[in-house]
Amino acid sequence: RTQWRGVLREYADRLDVTDATPIVTLGEGGTPLLPADALSARTGAKVWVKFEGMNPTGSFKDRGMTMAVSKAIEHGAKAVICASTGNTSASAAAYAAHAGITAAVLVPEGKIAMGKLAQAIAHNAQLLQVQGNFDDCLDIARELAAQYPVHLVNSVNNDRIEGQKTAAFEVVEVLGDAPDFHFIPVGNAGNYTAYARGYAEDAARGVTTRRPRMFGFQAEGSAPIVRGEVVKNPDTIASAIRIGNPASWELALAAREETNGYFGAISDADILAAHRILSAEVGIFVEPASAISVAGLLERSAAGEIPRGSTVVLTVTGHGLKDPQWALRTADGGEVSPIVVPIDAAAIADVLGLTASP
Ligand code: F0G
Repeated sequence: RTQWRGVLREYADRLDVTDATPIVTLGEGGTPLLPADALSARTGAKVWVKFEGMNPTGSFKDRGMTMAVSKAIEHGAKAVICASTGNTSASAAAYAAHAGITAAVLVPEGKIAMGKLAQAIAHNAQLLQVQGNFDDCLDIARELAAQYPVHLVNSVNNDRIEGQKTAAFEVVEVLGDAPDFHFIPVGNAGNYTAYARGYAEDAARGVTTRRPRMFGFQAEGSAPIVRGEVVKNPDTIASAIRIGNPASWELALAAREETNGYFGAISDADILAAHRILSAEVGIFVEPASAISVAGLLERSAAGEIPRGSTVVLTVTGHGLKDPQWALRTADGGEVSPIVVPIDAAAIADVLGLTASP
């Protein structure tokens, strides 16, 4: 068996990749689509989880970044730039390092998870903490890319969306058709747009019989699409999707329209409850933003909107190790402190509630 070759080579026939494209890959894509029995039992649907934390830098961004960095180099770029809530910067930094070019990344000061900050620094990005929020960072990144020789690799760059659409192809290859519903976190709405495009292309190629209804979720404190207006000071513990003015807003509204989709808002408390269910009952560890897919499913299911037996796919976008602190919180917001025991098997058996075998 040969190894997975990354999304540009695996899907070369469905992407704008030619012999002139230098392929920069870290082996992204080919991520697991896992049945989630605990979620199926709770909802009566057949629930699958697309675990995008299994990409090389631990998030779905790698699918878009392989495309964006490869195309940037094809166009002669020596440096890329992005604004980020953390994952895009980690991914841009890794792909730029692999290609031997420079990455400049703008992140909101003090507002990105430690694991992501460490990744960008480890991969030798020029990381700048901007004294503003993500939306400020994106405005500046766009301005710099327009005026200086740096190539923008945020999802306003269509190459990013193109690379990310491959996740939908993978879902269809496993299920044999498109699901009835696809649940996904929404920040800039780039990934929502990318899946909708991937599924639309599969339907157009005749390999599926339907397009899934695209259900996207924002955190209550940063839900501009749900509210229908820009949120000036977005706030949520799900730092990855703390975005008040989504870049792909119009594209996402079009995709919702075309797929009879939905946008909903979820409280931070419900995000954390879903995070706990996913890690404790399904065995998948994600960062908080990713858990919103699970929270969204539970909310829509409770509202009676998900018919029994429906096939449902949830994208969970980023790995739990990027932002692990949330696992160490109790449901009421306290700190988990693991029990300390002496070096004594009998005492430990006692704490574990074990009785000696006869
Ligand atoms: N989940 C995670 C873990 C993310 O990092 C992001 C976006 C999203 C969901 C939302 O995806 O923006 O396409 O709607 N993170 C960007 C970043 C903004 O800079 O890493 P979207």
